[in-house]
Amino acid sequence: MNYLIIVNKSNLIENSYYEDLKLIEAKDVLGNDVEVEEATYNAYCELKEDLRGRGIFVEISSAYRSISQQQEIIDEYTIKYGLEYVKKYVAPIKTSEHHTGLSIDLTLVVDGKKCLENEEAFAHEDIYLKIHRHLSNFGFILRYPKGKENITGYDYEPWHIRYVGKEAARLIYENDLTLEEYVAKYYYTG
Ligand code: DAL
Ligand code: ZN
Repeated sequence: MNYLIIVNKSNLIENSYYEDLKLIEAKDVLGNDVEVEEATYNAYCELKEDLRGRGIFVEISSAYRSISQQQEIIDEYTIKYGLEYVKKYVAPIKTSEHHTGLSIDLTLVVDGKKCLENEEAFAHEDIYLKIHRHLSNFGFILRYPKGKENITGYDYEPWHIRYVGKEAARLIYENDLTLEEYVAKYYYTG
């Protein structure tokens, strides 16, 4: 598995990626079935447990998405929020990192209430900021940070975490990099 794969508007997911992918069945915040890449899911379970010990409760709102599932989200969000919003927050099909199974959108459960809408997530940014500090210990990064929109291609999403493994996550976090910058810095051979 290439845990450093970049999928973005310039790097579309390729069919060959799926040859090595092992997806695990899990449940989302509403009890629906979701799938997550195996190591990503195990790391998520450890992160969730650690956060629970800090009084922070998270669930999965979205993880692996097929091409058709991404299209459904594009259609739903276009109706609900309009095209401008979709451009900022929803990836066109084949350019979504959710196609890799390595991304998880975290929903907060605050005082027993599930914060399902993006607006509620932003209202609880303080809790996400606490979560962000611990992500790298479990091999995750915040994939769409504030101030890096021109590099990632998306607006700040406090809920979207990406598994890259512990070493990469630590370097990315400590050096305030995006995945694009990290791979260019350490792996570019051209
Ligand atoms: N929200 C991210 C950009 C996606 O749709 O993949
Ligand atoms: Zn996401």
